[in-house]
Amino acid sequence: MFLWLLIVACALIVFYMKWIYTYWQRKGFPYLEPKIPFAVLEPVCRRKASLGIAIYDVYRKTKHKVLGIYLLTRPALLIHDAQLARDILTKDFESFHDRGVHVDDEKDPQSRGGIFFLKGQDWKNLRIKLSASFTSGKLKAMFDTIEDVGDKMVNYLNGQLRDDDVKELEMKHVMGTYSIDIIASVIFGLEVNSFVEPNNEILKVSRKVNEPTFGSVLRGTCQFLYPGLEKLFMRLGWREEAPNLMREIVRRTIQMREAHNISRKDMLQLLMQLRNNGEISADDNDWTTKVGKVVQKPMSIEIIATNLFLFYVAGYETTASIASFTAYELSRFPETLEKAQRDVREAMEKHNNKLTYETIQDMKYLDLCIMETTRKYPGLPILNRQCTHDYPLPDSDLVIKSGTPVIISLLGLHRDEKYFPEPMLWDPERFLQGRYDPVAFMPFGEGPRQCIAQRLGKIIVKVALAKLLLNFNIEFNPVRKEIEIANYGVPIMAKGGINIRLSKRKESRV
Ligand code: HEM
Repeated sequence: MFLWLLIVACALIVFYMKWIYTYWQRKGFPYLEPKIPFAVLEPVCRRKASLGIAIYDVYRKTKHKVLGIYLLTRPALLIHDAQLARDILTKDFESFHDRGVHVDDEKDPQSRGGIFFLKGQDWKNLRIKLSASFTSGKLKAMFDTIEDVGDKMVNYLNGQLRDDDVKELEMKHVMGTYSIDIIASVIFGLEVNSFVEPNNEILKVSRKVNEPTFGSVLRGTCQFLYPGLEKLFMRLGWREEAPNLMREIVRRTIQMREAHNISRKDMLQLLMQLRNNGEISADDNDWTTKVGKVVQKPMSIEIIATNLFLFYVAGYETTASIASFTAYELSRFPETLEKAQRDVREAMEKHNNKLTYETIQDMKYLDLCIMETTRKYPGLPILNRQCTHDYPLPDSDLVIKSGTPVIISLLGLHRDEKYFPEPMLWDPERFLQGRYDPVAFMPFGEGPRQCIAQRLGKIIVKVALAKLLLNFNIEFNPVRKEIEIANYGVPIMAKGGINIRLSKRKESRV
């Protein structure tokens, strides 16, 4: 009897697996034959590649406009065509407005109110409210806070170099420290200096958040591929400690500010304004919060903490990597470096040697350098959406079914010869000479759900690079070695260090 049951169970499993792994075949889509059981995620599971690189490798091997793949057992559609990708994100957004990572309204604060996770109208409502904190007026008002952190970085580098020294320094560490202090200061509203206090609370929690433990990898995978299983973990009370600690810091800061009526020009203040005044003030000089004015608070402390935590997740590695990759590439191309230095100095001269929001806007060549870095190393290597209404694929009789995850390999598009000739060459002037296809360039995503903070992200990177170029010489690195991408994590990160040689500049320091 037991043997028969075992045989029937095995037969059912085999039948079920066959059913799952023939999904694309049954739907008539071109597909990648899955290697059971990990399919496309085999290199990720074997810790040979990050998710972004594993998807990029599939992108490079196919010529089909769309390709059916399996993420473990989950069928997903890889988009291999820039115009179709852009249509999905913009023109046809109504059929792809969610990311498919919403888990559980009851037990999961991220699903309940986190901008990255929300669905449909709930997402739209929050996006409108939060967008008011990223206007140019608000960013301009926060500029001094960003610049202060830039100065701490300069002080740190000055301390590392003697006057006539040329020294090799690890930029990933420098930019990572700069970036965490920006997040702490501009987003969480905390005064820290991680360059001199490397064991401060926020840095310690940040290390914990980024630790790739078995639990965090499993939970991340479930959130992305098996929200039902993630919901079960939530219901069973399995909490992840690190994000909770980070949210706890925000909660404490809000309570402290409300109790002592403290005001500061940062994101936290704007979200407190939304909570207490009912809206973010359109007056860029008004940063007050009137505790008790609105009885029915439109946003709980928990939701503020959740969104600020998401800003940390979305903004930390991306800004640090883009700043350090740009510094590295500049060290390989002396002519480009010279043009960038000239651009930065000329902008300073035009603005009486003061680094302001307007000065930064005038650094046009530096902009090109950053654009080219976001092209070659897009902060997020993939974009994902969930199909929310059946979608007839243009020029074919295929239909993407509602509920299907759709993956766009940004790294694939940005390194595709078809859209960017000589894709591995870091060449900022390709944007001046039109040596690129603008349809395929979308480093901050596209459409209504593109990066909410792209202006802030660019300012953070630009201030770091402007400070670096104004105060230090980046020495030429004749070794034209490509940076190896780390085999873990979601954002594009360098494996090992990014070493560049620096010396102090004698003139014009800010
Ligand atoms: C240079 C740095 C950055 C890059 C390259 C970058 C890139 C991206 C990309 C590619 C997306 C996905 C867009 C899509 O799905 O279409 C995204 C979304 C997002 N980013 Fe950024 N980002 C950067 C900095 C930041 C910063 C500093 C913050 C926060 C302060 C931030 C907050 C967000 C949020 C909240 C979303 C989700 C938006 C939504 O679902 O409505 N990003 N970012």
